[in-house]
This record gives sequence, C-alpha cells and structure tokens, in this order.
Amino acid sequence: MKPLPMIRLNEDLLREKEAKFCSHGDTVHYSPVPKFFQGCEGSFLYDREDKPYLDLQMWYSAVNFGYRNKSIIDAVKAQLDQLPQLACQYLHEEKVLVAEKLATECLRAFGLEGRVQFNVGGAQAIEDSMKLVRNATGKTLFMAFTGGYHGRTLGASEITSSYRYRRRFGHFSNRAHFVPFPYCYRCPYGKKLDTCEYYCVNQVERLFETEYNSFWDSKANESEFVAFYVEPVQATGGYIIPPPEYFSRLKNILNERKILLVDDEIQMGFFRTGKFWAIENFGVKPNIVVFGKAMTNGLNPISGLWAEEPLISPQKFPPGSTHSTFASNPLGTAAALATLQWIEQQNYEEKVAASGAYFLRQLEALKQRHATIGDVSGLGLALRIEVTRPDRFTPDKALADRIFEAGLAGGIPTSRGPMGLVLDIGGHYKNVFTLAPSLDITREEIDLGIELLDKLFSS
Ligand SMILES: Cc1ncc(COP(=O)(O)O)c(C=O)c1O
Repeated sequence: MKPLPMIRLNEDLLREKEAKFCSHGDTVHYSPVPKFFQGCEGSFLYDREDKPYLDLQMWYSAVNFGYRNKSIIDAVKAQLDQLPQLACQYLHEEKVLVAEKLATECLRAFGLEGRVQFNVGGAQAIEDSMKLVRNATGKTLFMAFTGGYHGRTLGASEITSSYRYRRRFGHFSNRAHFVPFPYCYRCPYGKKLDTCEYYCVNQVERLFETEYNSFWDSKANESEFVAFYVEPVQATGGYIIPPPEYFSRLKNILNERKILLVDDEIQMGFFRTGKFWAIENFGVKPNIVVFGKAMTNGLNPISGLWAEEPLISPQKFPPGSTHSTFASNPLGTAAALATLQWIEQQNYEEKVAASGAYFLRQLEALKQRHATIGDVSGLGLALRIEVTRPDRFTPDKALADRIFEAGLAGGIPTSRGPMGLVLDIGGHYKNVFTLAPSLDITREEIDLGIELLDKLFSS
C-alpha cells in the first residue's frame, strides 16, 4: 500500500525556504529546479500531486530491494520498539549477526577468514580502509582508476580521479596514481578488445619494470604504492564493465608487487550485478571489501568493510583505530540484518541474471531504433545507455540532460497512463544513463521503462 501524501506547505513557500536556508554544498543539484517527491513504493516515486515516476536508478543503487520493502521496514519498526539507541561500545545482537553474515559471504566468495567493522556512510568506510592499509603497511601511496569514485571526504577525494572534487579544498594526503580504466567502448589506448591482448594491463605491469618508473625498488623488493582501489564495475564513471580477464591479470601483478586490492562494492555490491559481490564476476580475491548503500536497502545510513584477518585482527587493529558515535547504530544493524535475511530468501543470482538479460535485449532493440544511442551494455541489473551524436560515438551530454529533465517533468503518455521517469547521469563525459532498477523489477515495468525511453529519445 502506498502511503497517503502528507502535504503540509505549498511548494512555492517550500522553495522560498529552501533558497534561503539550505546549503547546496551537500547535494549535486543536477536539475536547475530540483524536484520534490512525496511518496514511494516498489519501483515508483510519487510527486506532490501523487503522480507516478518509474525509478530506474533507485537512489544510486541504494534501494536494490524496492522502495518501502515491508520486511525491512518491519524489522526497523520492531527495533524502534525494542532497542532504538545504544552506544557502539556496547554490544547488541544485530551487530554481531550482520558481521557474521557478511564475513561468511566473504569466506564463501573468497575463501578467506576476516572481520567486519562499521561506519555511517560510504566515504567514511573508505577512510577506514585507508587506515587499515596504512596501519598494515606503514605506507600511504595508493593506486586507483581514472573515472573512479570513492566518495567526497578529504581522504576519499584523493583516490577519486576528478580534480573537481579537490580543486577548492587542497590536498589532504597523497593524491593517488590513476590508471586508465578498461573502458573498451572508448579505449584510452585506441585499441580493440579482440586484438589488444590486454595492452592496458601490460601498461600497468610496465610501471614496475625498472626502478626509473618510480614505483618499484628492486633491491628492496618493495613497491612505493601499497594498495589499488577498484570498483569492479565502474559506477559513477558510467557503469563500465571491464573485459573478462582484466581483473585476474591485474591481480597477478598486484600479488607479485605485494600491493593490496581494495574492492569498493559500495554501489555494485548486494547483487546489483547478479552476484553478492560484483568482484565475484571476475574471480579474484580482494584483501579488503568496502560496502554501504544497499546494505540497508537505503533505509538507514550504515556502511562498513570486511578485511582479511591479518589486516584487521584486534592485535593489528585495536579498539579506537576508528570510531563514530553512530557506527554500528542499532536501527542500521537491524535494517542490515533484515536486508541480508531478505536476500537469503530470494535467489537473486538467477533472478537478476534473467531480468538483466531481458532488459539488455530491450535496450539493444532500443539502440537499433535511435542513432543517438552509441552503446548499451549490462552486467546483471547494472545497465548503461551511452548517449551520443548520431555518429554513435561523440558524447552528447546536452541530449542526456534534456532527456533526464523531460523524464523528471513527468506526465509522459504511456500504455499505463501519464508517467515520469527517474534516471541518473554518469560517465567520463557525463553522457551515460546508469540504470540501476529495483532487483525485483517486473517484466511489465521493464517494458514500461523501454516505452518511456523510446518516447524520450524520439522527442
Ligand atoms: C563506488 C562508490 N564508492 C563510494 C561512494 C561514496 O559513498 P557515500 O556517498 O555513501 O559516501 C559511492 C557513492 O556513490 C560509490 O558509488
């Protein structure tokens, strides 16, 4: 059941108050006039007039299991009645059980024993992972990908490739060394996958070839760089899926050079790509896994990381190494536990593969009908539409922005009545619709999404 709208103030008055009292610094404000929403259910958002919008982005993949998922909401309500508040220095059952479930998932996926610790948002958990690496290695230099996004705290901004996130704030620590992401549709080296023989990985290997490349001391047998931060499918960068052997080849180099692999699953974890962890698609074992967003289906801000035992044992990483008042807050752990229990009941591996394949087939047909769609691809229900000029290559950000705004304006005539469409734009050229629908999206809702996209690309 969708809740009744709770309109209190008229929109003009709210906008006046927003203009006066709200900082814009904590949002991305893509639209010139950001939209108010009033309700949500399943795959849909509802505006202040109760008009529906199909959401194909689900709060940057935080709401993988549908808006107002009843099982998860009921668990939070029960926690509100039982133990809504507790300082993190004391224990509560949900915290222990969430840690056990996530550590068990890592043991299943990677065959490694480890531990889980919590924080509040994705970037904060990334910061914690940086502390783990620094603590274990005594070194501070990291590698990461161009187009990567790991958050906007000062530390996370150093491994996020955009200078835009650092320009006005200066450097907090050491900016990462950024390696080109294997973006085959726009290969940074101008190669083709069928003939390149993973030239991009070979370029990484070359960094360590001689001491003059400044990464490796062959006398000490030591690398100056001690961790590589990766998103298995590059998220904000445009849902870019690397070629099948990329990560296994990269991992061989990292093993040889004793460089830790930190796997940022904040956007792609929890079955977005059809596997519990997105990195499982590529058959490599990370040393640290960082997660957030869909961990509570977006219900409560809690994030965390798993690390293999030698990095995170209490002897190595003792109490007080990190802490936040709200780190393992009981509403968050209750929501996370309910989310993990929900996942256990669903068989998402099969479901996401099937829905993703169906969605991708429809997107491929859509691409045939519109010359301004340069590329579509997907892994599970992480799907992408690259918006281009009719040459199917030159990025067209302006067209992507127009379609985004027209979707948000709502009232598009469809077979199910007037409807809006919620999209998100990412990509190295800000011309990619990064589609992250509910993992429970129905075939009818996928068809509706295609109908809406068809209309918007035609107008
Ligand atoms: C891959 C990835 N890492 C880190 C973050 C930062 O998470 P948060 O916004 O919760 O700080 C995000 C957020 O979009 C993300 O997609």
